[in-house]
Amino acid sequence: MSKKYEKKISSEKATLTIGDKSFEFPIYGGSTGPDVIDISTLYRDTNMFTYDPGFTSTASCESAITYIDGDKGELLYRGYPIEQLAEKSDFLEVSYLLLNGELPSEAEKSKFTHDITYHTMVHEQLNRFFGGFRRDAHPMAIMCGVIGAMSAFYHDSTDINDPNQRRVASYRLIAKMPTIAAMTYKYSTGQPFVYPRNDLNYAENFLYMTFGVPTCEEYVVNPILADAMDKIFILHADHEQNASTSTVRLAGSSGANPFACIAAGIASLWGPAHGGANEACLKMLYEIGTVENIPKYIAKAKDKNDPFRLMGFGHRVYKNFDPRAKVLQQAAHEVLEELGVNDPMLEVARELERIALEDEYFIEKKLYPNVDFYSGIILKAMGFPTEMFTVLFALARTVGWISQWGEMIKDPKQKIGRPRQLFIGESTRDYIDIGKR
Ligand code: SDX
Repeated sequence: MSKKYEKKISSEKATLTIGDKSFEFPIYGGSTGPDVIDISTLYRDTNMFTYDPGFTSTASCESAITYIDGDKGELLYRGYPIEQLAEKSDFLEVSYLLLNGELPSEAEKSKFTHDITYHTMVHEQLNRFFGGFRRDAHPMAIMCGVIGAMSAFYHDSTDINDPNQRRVASYRLIAKMPTIAAMTYKYSTGQPFVYPRNDLNYAENFLYMTFGVPTCEEYVVNPILADAMDKIFILHADHEQNASTSTVRLAGSSGANPFACIAAGIASLWGPAHGGANEACLKMLYEIGTVENIPKYIAKAKDKNDPFRLMGFGHRVYKNFDPRAKVLQQAAHEVLEELGVNDPMLEVARELERIALEDEYFIEKKLYPNVDFYSGIILKAMGFPTEMFTVLFALARTVGWISQWGEMIKDPKQKIGRPRQLFIGESTRDYIDIGKR
């Protein structure tokens, strides 16, 4: 297990003055990043709540998993820069790192890879769920349903208080997400499901189960595509306390089983402001269509009266470039070159990025391309339909979600999440009989 940095209690306190009263609150420091003010006694002391819609200034937990410095454009998984992991590691090694806190030894990596590989098959009856969906159902709708339904099958890994059952559930989710994601694609095409192969690595196996038609012809995985797929998984694996991770933590705080919690995370990720942005971004690029149309859409994005936003731009935390976007921009170029794809959308994307980054509105609001800006271009070139983009995001983020969930469950201070509100509705009033309304 990784060394858990204990928070440092500052000798200073935060003082809040309300009227003629002053209240003091402890300040804690972490291993890096902003300090926090512990306001857990504020309601008891002041009979007031804090108010922070969207949690822009709120730390919901202590965590040792992923650190983001939005000003520097820095992303660390257990201290390792994302650029180094994307270049030198692979997704299962990064999964081990996120789950356990340290890079595995060769023996640890070999055992982890074996354990995940031998959990990739799904219960045969799980296949029957698909028949209940329309063929044109959005694959994220299917993922929400099928992943949640895993808790109807794997009862021997739903006791959250049993460390071994937590580990087995985590392995099952990491291992089965590619299989189920590939099944959602196959179902939409009318092709048969493809069973996993234990001789392929994680990314190769996913491409095989998605694009292979083994009974008709042998599917040979393109190593460049498998490498790009693995890199995309690494870049999407975790990202601190984002909306879907916070959803998983909040669901888990009630003691819900891990499969149900991950299904909740999938639902949250689906939104176009979050993981659904990769699908929305590619649709936006097609709507823009040509480089000549870009200024019109930049103007729409800046128009306060127009709800249009440039999908794939902006971020709650990154107020500098998103380091993942940099890696993906390079990967987009490599994949399109390897496939000999001349996608005009790559040119539109590049020109949109150039123009936006020179525009004073985007500079002032610190809006840079985020992880979703280039991923869609790569995934489309690889043959994935647009609706599958967020499914792949969920596939990769599952290890981050389950690592954060496990960290929360192990936290002795963990309690059910239950925010309060600023009530602006009707005060007490008496019932009025219908004849008198
Ligand atoms: C992900 O949190 C994570 O870590 C998420 C994620 C992860 O790995 O889990 O990184 C993955 O979700 C990436 C983000 C993908 N979403 C998009 O690309 C959708 C487009 N982006 C926006 O919807 C927006 O930028 C958000 C939702 C990402 C961030 O929104 P915030 O932090 O709430 O910022 P905001 O909406 O308050 O915007 C600040 C200002 C506003 O203008 P003002 O009201 O101050 O005048 O910037 C403007 C916004 O109107 N703005 C944009 C814009 N994003 C923000 N204007 C035009 N186009 C945009 N994309």
